[in-house]
Amino acid sequence: MSKVIKGGTIVAADRTYEADILVEGEHIAAIGKDLSGDTVIDAEGAYILPGGIDPHTHLEMPFMGTTAAETWESGTFAALSGGTTMVVDFVIPGPGGMLEALEEWESKAQRQASSDYSYHMCVTNWSEQNFFDMAKVVDRGINTFKHFMAYKGALMVNDDEMFASFQRCAALGALPLVHAENGDIVAALQQKYMDSGMPGPEAHAYSRPPEVEGEATNRAIMIADAAGVPLYVVHVSCEQSHEAIRRARQKGMRVYGEPLIQHLTLDESEYQNADWMHAARRVMSPPFRDKLNQDSLWAGLAAGSLQVVATDHAAFTSEQKTLGLDDFRKIPNGTGGLEDRMSVLWARGVETGRLTMNEFVAVTSTNIAQILNIYPQKGAILPGSDADLVVWDPKLSKTISAANQKSIIDYNVFEGFKVHGLPRYTLSRGDIVWSHGQNDQPQPGRGKFVKRRAFPAANQALSKWKEITAPRAVTRSAEHMPIGV
Ligand code: URP
Ligand code: ZN
Ligand code: ZN
Ligand code: ZN
Repeated sequence: MSKVIKGGTIVAADRTYEADILVEGEHIAAIGKDLSGDTVIDAEGAYILPGGIDPHTHLEMPFMGTTAAETWESGTFAALSGGTTMVVDFVIPGPGGMLEALEEWESKAQRQASSDYSYHMCVTNWSEQNFFDMAKVVDRGINTFKHFMAYKGALMVNDDEMFASFQRCAALGALPLVHAENGDIVAALQQKYMDSGMPGPEAHAYSRPPEVEGEATNRAIMIADAAGVPLYVVHVSCEQSHEAIRRARQKGMRVYGEPLIQHLTLDESEYQNADWMHAARRVMSPPFRDKLNQDSLWAGLAAGSLQVVATDHAAFTSEQKTLGLDDFRKIPNGTGGLEDRMSVLWARGVETGRLTMNEFVAVTSTNIAQILNIYPQKGAILPGSDADLVVWDPKLSKTISAANQKSIIDYNVFEGFKVHGLPRYTLSRGDIVWSHGQNDQPQPGRGKFVKRRAFPAANQALSKWKEITAPRAVTRSAEHMPIGV
C-alpha cells in the first residue's frame, strides 16, 4: 500500500518547493508533480518537513536519587504528536559498566518506543574496561560518547579522564559530547549559598553562573584539540559558552553547539517566583539565564555557529521536585520540552523572523542527522530516505498547557505559550502515527533503534593535519653542538 502526500510545499534545509511525495513501505519512493498512490494524505496549505530529531533526552533516567518520570512510551508519543520522529537518549552506566547499561536502556526502549530512537553512551570514569567497551559500543551502532564536567561526586569526570576518553573517541571515529560546567566551582558555590541561608531554588541558578559554563566549554575545546577530535557541546545556554564555540570554529576546529528550546525562550526570572514549586519545576543545569543570552543563542542559530536545537527532556514530577524542599542541591535537575520543541521554535523563531523555514529544518533535523552520521536516512526528504515526515500546518494553533499534553508530567514549563504551527500529520517510516484532531494512541514497540556508524572522516582529517604540523625534533650536526661542555 503506497501513500501520496499531495498539495504541500516541501521545506528542506536547502530549499523550498512544491511537490508531492510518494511513500512506499518505510521509504520515500518519489518526489514530483501529480504523483498518485493508494491513499492520499492532504497537505494542501501545509509545509512538509523532515521529521524532527531531538538529540538530547533522558527518558526514565535514574538520577539524583530518583528516576525521571517520563517513560519511553509517553515520551516518544509526546514527541510524535509534536512532529519529532526520533530521539537520542543518554545511556548512563552503573557499576556493571557500559554494556550492561545498554541492555538496561534497550529493555525499556524496545518495548515502549513509538518513535525511532538511538543512544549516546556516557563516560563517567576512566578504566581499562571502558577503553575496550567503547569499541564494543561503537560496534553496536553508537558513535557518540558524553562526558559530564559537572555533578561532582556522581557523574563528573576530570580533565585527565576526559582526555583519555577523547583520544579513544579519536581512534574509534566517534564524537565526544560534553556537559560543560566547572563542577568543582559549582559544588563550592552551592555550599556557599547553603551556608549563607539560601536553600531555595533561586540559589541553584546563583551557584551555576555563565562563567562556570564558559570556562568549562573553553577547557573541553582545548582538550578536544589536544586529543585531535571534534567536539559537540550540549545545552549551550549563554554567550560565554557560545563565544568559546564561535572562536574555536573560526580557528578551523570542528566544534558543534546545541542550545535548548528552554534557554531560547525562558529566563532566570522564573527562579524569583514567590511560589517555590514554580521555581523548582524549572531547576535544570545549566539554569535559565539572563534574557540577553537568548539574543546570542538565536544569533548563533541564524549565523551557523550553533547548529542544533534540543530539549534535554528530563521530566520530573512536582512530587519528585520536593526532594529538594530544604536544600536546592537535592531538587532533581531537569525540565521537559520534547512535545513542544518544534511548535515553540516555529512560533518564537520562524514567526518572528529570527529563523527562516529552511534554518528551522536545519536546526531541528538535518544538521543533527549529519552530525550523527545518519543523513540522508534521517533528516532529509529525498528518494530512499526513511519516510519520517511532518505535514506542518502553519494555521493550526494551541495554547500550551499541562492539561492537554501527551507528556505524563503534571506541569509544563511553556504553560500559556500560544503557538501557531503544529503537525497535521506525523509519519514515521511511512506509518501515520499522529493526525491532528484524532485520538491517536501510542504504539509501543513500533519504534526502531537507529544504528549510527562510526565516522572516521573528520577524525582522520584532523589527525592528518596534526601529523603534518606536529612538533619535530631539530636535527643538529656535530659542528653546531657545543664542544667539551
Ligand atoms: O538539568 C539537567 N540538564 N538534567 C539532565 C541531565 C543533564 O545534565 O543533561
Ligand atoms: Zn547536562
Ligand atoms: Zn541532558
Ligand atoms: Zn503565532
